[in-house]
Amino acid sequence: MTLLADAADPAVHRGRILSFLSDPGDATDAASYRYFADGALIVENGRIAALGPADSVLAQLPIGIQVADHGDNLLLPGFIDNHIHYTQSDVIAAGGRQLLDWLQDYTFVEEARFGDPQHARAVAEFFLDELARHGTTTALVFCTVHPESVDAFFGAAERRRLRMIAGKVLMDRNAPGGLCDTPERSDRESRALLERWHGKDRLHYAITPRFAVTSSEAQLRVAGRLARDFPDAFIHSHLAETHGEIDWVRRLFPTSRSYLDVYDGHGLLRERAIYAHCIHLDAQDRARMAESGAAAAFCPTSNLYLGSGLFDIAAADAAGMRFSTATDVGGGSSFSLLRTLDEARKVARLQGQDLAPLRAFYLATLGAARCLRLEDRIGRLEVGAEADFIVLDLKATELIARRTAAARTLSDVLRILMTLGDDRAVKATYILGRQVHGEPAATATITPVAS
Ligand code: GUN
Ligand code: ZN
Repeated sequence: MTLLADAADPAVHRGRILSFLSDPGDATDAASYRYFADGALIVENGRIAALGPADSVLAQLPIGIQVADHGDNLLLPGFIDNHIHYTQSDVIAAGGRQLLDWLQDYTFVEEARFGDPQHARAVAEFFLDELARHGTTTALVFCTVHPESVDAFFGAAERRRLRMIAGKVLMDRNAPGGLCDTPERSDRESRALLERWHGKDRLHYAITPRFAVTSSEAQLRVAGRLARDFPDAFIHSHLAETHGEIDWVRRLFPTSRSYLDVYDGHGLLRERAIYAHCIHLDAQDRARMAESGAAAAFCPTSNLYLGSGLFDIAAADAAGMRFSTATDVGGGSSFSLLRTLDEARKVARLQGQDLAPLRAFYLATLGAARCLRLEDRIGRLEVGAEADFIVLDLKATELIARRTAAARTLSDVLRILMTLGDDRAVKATYILGRQVHGEPAATATITPVAS
C-alpha cells in the first residue's frame, strides 16, 4: 500500500467510526450500520482504502506512519444537504409571513443581485465556507435564473474539488421582470451550462424549474425535453409546500389532477428528481413519487420558519417514498444538518410520530446519497467510497461533554449530538481526504509492538 506520506494531511485516521448500510427505521440493532468504537480508516488517492477496528487496520501499516488521532470523537460520512439555495445565504432570518410574500418581499429582491458575477462569486465562496464549517460535503443547490450565478457556483466548487449538484433556475412568469427568462432562453442557457459543467470533475447539473407557479406550460415542456436529452442529470424543484401556493397551481393548471401531476405530465418525475417539501400530498401523489423513484427533501427548519406545515414521515414510509433531510437555506434558518435533524424530530413528535437518532443520521448521510443515486460514491465510509468525512466533537460544549459522558448507547450519543449540536460540534471536515475545516488532529506515530 502506498500511503500519502509526503502529503500535508495524514492518510490514516483513528477514532470512533460510524457508517450506515441501510435505513435503520426505528430499530436500534446493529444490522443497519457499522460502528467501530476504536476504528481506523486509511485514505488513498482521495478514496477509502481500508476501514475497520484500529488494532487490525494499524497492524498492517509500516512503522513510522503518522496517524491522525481523533480520540473519542466520531467520524461520519460528510452530511448531504438535498435542498439549499446558495443565493439565499443573505435571506436567512428575513421577515415575511408565509412563502409567497417572503418570496416577493425578500427573496426575489436578493436573487436579482446574482446577474453580477462578482457578487455571485463572493456569495458562493461564503456559502461553501459555511457548508464546510457545518460538515456538509455535498449539496443539491438552487442558483438563480442568471447563468452567471451557476458559473460562479460551479467554479468555486470545482476549485475545492467538491461533489456538488446545481443548476440555473427556470422561471418565466409571476416574478419580477429581471428574474424571468423565456422558454427559448431557458433551453439555450441550460444546455450551454449542462455541456460546460455536468460530469466535470465531481460536479453534476440539475434541471431546476423553480416551481409550477413561476413556469409556463412552454417552459415546463423545455424542462421535460432537457430531462429526456440528459437522462443522468438531476431534476430539482419545489412541491406542495403551502396551501396558498397549491391553490395558485390549481388555477394555473386546471386540467392537472394535482400539483405533482403538473410535473409528472411534463416528464419531470424519475430517479434523480428531488422535490423540496412535499408536505401537502395525497396518497395517490405519494404512491406516484415512490413508483417514479423521485425523492422528497424534508426541510423542517424552513417549514417551521415559514409556517408551511408538517412533513408526514409515516405517510411517506407507508407509500415507500424516498426522502432525506435538507436545510432549505434561506427559508430554512440554519446551515446545520444537526439543527435540522433536531427540528425534524420535533416535526415528527408533533404528529405523534418519531425520528430515532440512528435514522436521523442515516437520512443526513446514506439516505440522502440514495435519494441522489450517488451512494456508490458518497454518504458512507466503505472501501472504495470517496473520502468525504467529518469529525463530530463529543465535548463540543460543556453540556454536550457532560451529557455524552453519561451516554450508555450509540443512540444516546447521536440523540445528544442532534439535540444540542450545531457548527461547534463539527471539529473537522475532510474532502477527498484533505482537511478543509478545523484544527489538525493530534498525530501519533506507529511504533513497534513491544515484545
Ligand atoms: N418555492 C418557490 N421558490 C421557493 C424558495 O425559494 N424557497 C422556498 N422555501 N420555497 C419556494
Ligand atoms: Zn427551497
